[in-house]
Amino acid sequence: MARSKISIIGAGAVGATVAQTLAIRQTGDIYIFDIVDGLAEGKALDILEGAPHWGYDLNIKGFCTADESKYAEMKGSDVIVVTAGLARKPGMSRDDLLLKNIGIMKSVGEAIKKYSPESKIVVVTNPADIMAYAIYKASGISPDKIIGLGGSLDSTRFRTFLAMELNVSFEDVNAFVIGGHGDDMVPFIRYSNVSGIPIEDLLPKEKIDEIVKRTRFGGGEIVNLYKTGSAFYAPGISIAVMVESIVNDRKRVIPCAAYITGEHAKNYLIENLFIGVPIKIGKNGVEHIYDIKFRDDELEAWKKTVESVKKNSAIADDYFAKNQ
Ligand code: NAI
Ligand code: 2OP
Repeated sequence: MARSKISIIGAGAVGATVAQTLAIRQTGDIYIFDIVDGLAEGKALDILEGAPHWGYDLNIKGFCTADESKYAEMKGSDVIVVTAGLARKPGMSRDDLLLKNIGIMKSVGEAIKKYSPESKIVVVTNPADIMAYAIYKASGISPDKIIGLGGSLDSTRFRTFLAMELNVSFEDVNAFVIGGHGDDMVPFIRYSNVSGIPIEDLLPKEKIDEIVKRTRFGGGEIVNLYKTGSAFYAPGISIAVMVESIVNDRKRVIPCAAYITGEHAKNYLIENLFIGVPIKIGKNGVEHIYDIKFRDDELEAWKKTVESVKKNSAIADDYFAKNQ
C-alpha cells in the first residue's frame, strides 16, 4: 500500500516538531520546505537520522523554496501543513505582522494551486483563522479542504489545566474551545466534562473562570517563559492529530477553523470566513460542521470573537484587492 505524503511548509520550531511527531507515529512520508537555505534539508536529515532508534522507514526530505520551483516536490501530497511565517518582533504591530504573513500565504497559496491543488491544507501560521482565509483566497481551492489550527491546541490546553486542577487523567477530560485563535477565543464550559461529568458539577465558578482565563492566554504564557519564541510541542501534536484524521479518515471531531457558509452562517453569525467551530475531519477535509445552540451569555462571548475575525479578515480582503 502506498504511504501517505505530508508536506510541511516552514521548517521552524512548529514545522520540525510536527515532522518529527508524524515520523514517530509513522503517519507517512514527510517533505519539508523552507525559504532559508539548508534549514529544511537539515531538519529532514536530522529527523531521518533518528530512524534506526525510532524504527520508522519513511522518506523524509527537505527543500529550499528560495528556488520557487522546488515547491513542485509537494505534488501529490495528501496533506500540506503551512507553518511558514513570521513571529511578532519588538516594534512590529499586530497589523504589520498580519500583512507580512498574508503576503507569505499569498506565495504559498499560489504554489499549492500550481503544484498540488488536490491536497488538504492545515494552516498553522498566525493568526490562523485569517491565514486559512488567505490561503483560500490565494489558492482558490475548495474551502472545505482547508482547516486552520487553533481549537485543537486551545482545547488541549483547556483539558490539561482542568485535569491538573481536578487531579484526574488528562485523557478523561473532554473540553473544547471555539472561536478565533486569539485572546477572545471561547472555552466552551457547558460541553466540558470529565468522563461525562460536567465540569460545572466539579469545580466552583471562580476556579473555572480562572482556568478559562489561563487557556485564553495559554500561548502568551509560553511566550513569556520562552522569551524568544512561541509554543511548538503542544502545537506539534495538536496538528499531528488533525493530519492523521485526514490521512487515516478517522473522522475525529475537533474544533478547528473552518469556512462557514449556508445554514451554519446563520447559527455562527459569520459568513464566507474561517473561524473555530467543532468539525468532523476526514479524508475529504472538513466533512461536517456542528452547530452549537448558544445560550445568551455564550452568545455574547461568541459575538466578540466573531468581530475580531471579521475585522482581520477584512484586512486580508483589502490586501488581495490591492495585490492580485
Ligand atoms: P519559526 O520562526 O520557528 O518558523 C517559521 C519558519 O517559516 C522559519 O523557518 C522561516 O524561515 C519560514 N518561512 C518564513 N517565510 C517563508 C516563506 N515565504 N516560505 C517558506 N518558509 C518561510 O516559527 P514557529 O514557532 O515554527 O511558528 C510558525 C508560525 O506558526 C507562527 O506564525 C506562529 O505564530 C504560528 N503558530 C500558530 C499556532 C496556532 O495554534 N495557530 C500554534 C503555534 C504556532
Ligand atoms: C499559541 O497559542 C503561538 O498561537 C500560538 O501558542
